[in-house]
Amino acid sequence: MLSGISYFLLLGDAVVVTNEDHMVLDINQKFEQETGYLRDDIIGLPTRILKSGYTPLKTYECMRKLLAEGQSWSGVFINLTKDQSLWHSYCTISPIEIENTKYYVGVFRNLEHISEGIYVSESRKLRIQTEIFRVLAISCEIRDPSIEEHFVRVQQFTSRLIRVHNNKWNLQLTEEYMQHVTNASIMHDIGKSGIPEGILYKPGKLTYYERIIIETHPLIGVDILNKISHELDDELFQQELQISKTIVEFHHENWDGTGYPHRLKANEIPLEAQVVSLVDVYDALISRRAYKEAWTHEDALAYLQTQKGTKFNEELVESFIEEFSVEADVDIGIV
Ligand SMILES: [Fe+2]
Ligand SMILES: [Fe+2]
Repeated sequence: MLSGISYFLLLGDAVVVTNEDHMVLDINQKFEQETGYLRDDIIGLPTRILKSGYTPLKTYECMRKLLAEGQSWSGVFINLTKDQSLWHSYCTISPIEIENTKYYVGVFRNLEHISEGIYVSESRKLRIQTEIFRVLAISCEIRDPSIEEHFVRVQQFTSRLIRVHNNKWNLQLTEEYMQHVTNASIMHDIGKSGIPEGILYKPGKLTYYERIIIETHPLIGVDILNKISHELDDELFQQELQISKTIVEFHHENWDGTGYPHRLKANEIPLEAQVVSLVDVYDALISRRAYKEAWTHEDALAYLQTQKGTKFNEELVESFIEEFSVEADVDIGIV
């Protein structure tokens, strides 16, 4: 029936041949094994019966666009087998024309069976990474029992602030970047693991030398992250580790150049560090600490207003106030 097109079914990978409307014309035995569908069951059905809902819509859009232009498309599909298990595959679909009839030939390679490397889906990668970052951040400040609550709030505030700032000032930040910054924000103080406890939790005023020691924590944090990224040597986390490093290194820089450790000024300070710096200060203000009472939300906002253009980027403070102006006071306790 399919004449020349049948030869594609001899390939070792799972193969499906469809018409232009993506209705199944034929499959090979490997496709039967991978999906659980028998040839006689699936012929005549649309390929959308394989859809799981987990493949991003833009994947389909890109596929349809290229096929309509007569080009091949390759990408990752997360489909469903007949028994409704997820089937992750790397697929190449090629438009083939034989005797004035157009066919699509889809060749699928099961990603879990690839011998070199392991396929990790985006959502799984995000879960693993979030967990690793959380454990790492908590273990670096294990001496502070309330630190986890501070981390959760810093992540929540970072996520809200970077999104509202992006919309307000039309910055065109990608969702991926904003997600990375949110995840990485939990790491901002990992360098504190290298600061002696007596200085870190001293209730009274710090001496000049104690302050100098505290101010080394951004660079200690960078050392820790460099070691991790060297040991990990895995491209899976490199982008996130890079953003974490920036946040760790620059989260105490001030807009007017009076911060530390590099005294960077204005937009020399990467945006992700500006965002985390602001939410970290806000959270510290509204939290009770061994040496101070919690400020009210209104007092904290009023303080941020006074720091426009000095400690913080003026536009970022405006974004923060827009997003957080109706925040209720919460009793956060000692952190
Ligand atoms: Fe810090
Ligand atoms: Fe913090």
